[in-house]
Amino acid sequence: MRTADRIANLPPYLFAEIDRKKEAKQAQGIDVISLGIGDPDQPTPDNIVDAMAQAIRNPANHRYPSYYGAKRYREACSEWMRRRFEVDVDPDDEVVALIGSKEGIAHIFLAFVDPGDYTLVPGCGYPVYHTGGILSGGLSHFMPMTEENDFLADFESTPSDVLAKAKMMFLSYPNNPTSAIANEEYFDKAIAFAKEHDLLIVHDNAYSEIGFDGYRPSSFLERPGAKDVAIELFSCSKAYNMTGWRVAFAAGNSTAIKALGTVKSNIDSGVFTAIQDAAIEAMLGPQDITFQLSEIYQRRRDTVVEALANIGMHARTPKGTIYVWARVPEGYTSAQFASKVLDEANVIVAAGTAYGPSGEGYIRISLATPDDRLTEAIERIENSL
Ligand SMILES: Cc1ncc(COP(=O)(O)O)c(C=O)c1O
Repeated sequence: MRTADRIANLPPYLFAEIDRKKEAKQAQGIDVISLGIGDPDQPTPDNIVDAMAQAIRNPANHRYPSYYGAKRYREACSEWMRRRFEVDVDPDDEVVALIGSKEGIAHIFLAFVDPGDYTLVPGCGYPVYHTGGILSGGLSHFMPMTEENDFLADFESTPSDVLAKAKMMFLSYPNNPTSAIANEEYFDKAIAFAKEHDLLIVHDNAYSEIGFDGYRPSSFLERPGAKDVAIELFSCSKAYNMTGWRVAFAAGNSTAIKALGTVKSNIDSGVFTAIQDAAIEAMLGPQDITFQLSEIYQRRRDTVVEALANIGMHARTPKGTIYVWARVPEGYTSAQFASKVLDEANVIVAAGTAYGPSGEGYIRISLATPDDRLTEAIERIENSL
């Protein structure tokens, strides 16, 4: 059996590797605490589950879904954008339903990247920005991200030969894994840069609903001219504790949305329509859940940042996302420190380098863990140092 080179070219999928190590420890009866994966520990709210229970009994929902999303779903996405950000997107040609934003990230490459084309990828970011490129025969240029530069991906330093072959640039703020946020000036510069170099910007706003200390993330599409060059991805996963449901959407530039829809219509058959109905309830029903979740993660953030400071590890206090990005102690690489913590404290943290080259020197701690387990994990790390 001979598989394609593109499979061999993929790096090992980060979370699969973490799961494998965890299972090996658990098979030995060891209690492992995972701070590795950003999968909310709280259930989906009742009003959304109830909407699903009703929707699943509707026989019309049992048939093939629309490739692009049911009209009522696309209208709900558009209404949510208006209520939440005062951004107007046309449900008919500026919105497409996604089977989770991961699916949209992977498929946008097939719509824009030919073999040998470059994609500008954040120096550390969600791994599929890079692996999606590999699967489509494209190349990644990692834009440097440094703490001194507030982890804003430096697109301006991209060499001109790379730019000549680049079609697409990923940005994502609030950022996974660094939790950095971007200001309007940075977004405006990115829009001007994309116009100058004829690039599509894909702004991944997976953490749009999680903000701390009164901060609420904005939409990239709020910026003037954004729709000329960008699409933005939103997901119910983290906003409404719906990671398992696989429902999200892309909104923005109609040419890009149409191209993505064309790819999807040849590969998948859309999101189960009952799930779209549940997502409509999530987006247009009561929004208290997003504030409650932000409160929970903020409390956990405070616990972790303070505990890390007490053991001499530096971490910035994030204003959003469900991660704390901490510098590893002197003398360790990210991978060495993550593996020491797993071996000696039975705690899983993600090595920063798993997210790209700018992640060296850092680990990512996920706050999607119950408070008592989080406290215990930090105590274990302290005892292992
Ligand atoms: C930045 C970012 N984008 C996209 C995703 C994928 O989310 P979804 O569940 O919508 O596919 C994640 C998941 O952790 C993420 O962190």
